[in-house]
Amino acid sequence: MRTIICDLTHAQLAATGMRHDVALCREELAAARDCTGCFGCWVRTPGSCVIRDSLGDLGVLLARTDELLLVSRMTFGWVSPLVKRALDRSIGYLHPNFRIADGQLHHRMRYADHELALSFHLYGPSTGAEHACARTIAAANALNLGARLASVRFPADEKNVDAEKDAPAVAAPAPPEHGRALPRRVALVNASPRGDRSATAHLLADLAEALPVYARRADVAAPELVRATAPTELAGCDAVVLGYPLYVDALPSGLVDLLVCARDELAAGTRVYALANMGFYEPEQIVPSFSVIENFCAAAGARWSGGVAVGAGGMVLPVAQTPRMGMMRRSVSEAIDQLIMAVLAGTDTGAIEARPPVPRFAYKLAAEARWRRLAREHGAAI
Ligand SMILES: Cc1cc2nc3c(=O)[nH]c(=O)nc-3n(C[C@H](O)[C@H](O)[C@H](O)COP(=O)(O)O)c2cc1C
Repeated sequence: MRTIICDLTHAQLAATGMRHDVALCREELAAARDCTGCFGCWVRTPGSCVIRDSLGDLGVLLARTDELLLVSRMTFGWVSPLVKRALDRSIGYLHPNFRIADGQLHHRMRYADHELALSFHLYGPSTGAEHACARTIAAANALNLGARLASVRFPADEKNVDAEKDAPAVAAPAPPEHGRALPRRVALVNASPRGDRSATAHLLADLAEALPVYARRADVAAPELVRATAPTELAGCDAVVLGYPLYVDALPSGLVDLLVCARDELAAGTRVYALANMGFYEPEQIVPSFSVIENFCAAAGARWSGGVAVGAGGMVLPVAQTPRMGMMRRSVSEAIDQLIMAVLAGTDTGAIEARPPVPRFAYKLAAEARWRRLAREHGAAI
């Protein structure tokens, strides 16, 4: 069976003549909700989402699909907010327990004998950096979903999404010469759908608490910290820290939406940093998502300034009450401190990987025990 998920309307898809058995188009995606990060599709109604809208049974649909084709407007090197919404809502297709694939922690397949062929057609003008970013994340998705990556294509526009030949890459705008000097206003964005209950909230709160202390020690004025939730709140900030959980190897759909809307809001040269965490163990799995933010910065005239990648994010809240420089938190605290120094000095920091404090097998066992306990509490079996 061939399934298409796309941000075109049904009429636009029909006009392309692309063959399919099932299509989820703009109409269904726009009427559906974003993933809330509740993991109900693993521990309450295993395999199905607890939100009963047009994406509620996407995991089951994928299990019946042989060829999955995602058609999306190119958005900073990955998919548009609507197509990302569908990808985020697809995780019921996976089993919460872990497997090792390509030397990294990934989820086990819920449908062990099923293999998808995965294709991405990302239409619209795009730069060479966006092509490279898309190819990397597409490969990561294929590994994550136990799928075969059939193709990643870059058609010129929505009318030619099935074109065999890629449109040539367009030139990226020249980056701003310098980021601005010492920041006076810094926006902190919590892009986790879990809001105040999230690991992201804790990591950002830690940064917000430590930053004035470091400013005092460095004898510089502490910038005003603004908790921003809307794109317009980013205007007038000299720096932005984007806190987010990794969702399907990239940014959660809500954050992609925010960036699309914020593109014309940022002052030229605004420094953009990231503070990202993830469920898997290896922080390097987060790094490709930084390229999406870098591409956003190129499009917005902002300056990508680097970020912190926290592996084993499932540990962040359980160890939150232990000493900040104690064994269980030290690597994350040191990474956040490095980020703070860069924010305060108005400099770049590169990608800082905070390695988990426990061995991988211990994290895997603890996380799997937690899934079993949560499922039992909800009367579900996994
Ligand atoms: C829809 C969805 C997709 C996810 N995809 C990934 C992923 O690709 N890689 C990963 O390591 N973790 C993934 N996770 C796990 C989250 O990154 C992890 O639970 C994180 O700690 C949540 O952080 P938060 O509490 O700040 O939201 C995913 C979680 C959800 C709900």
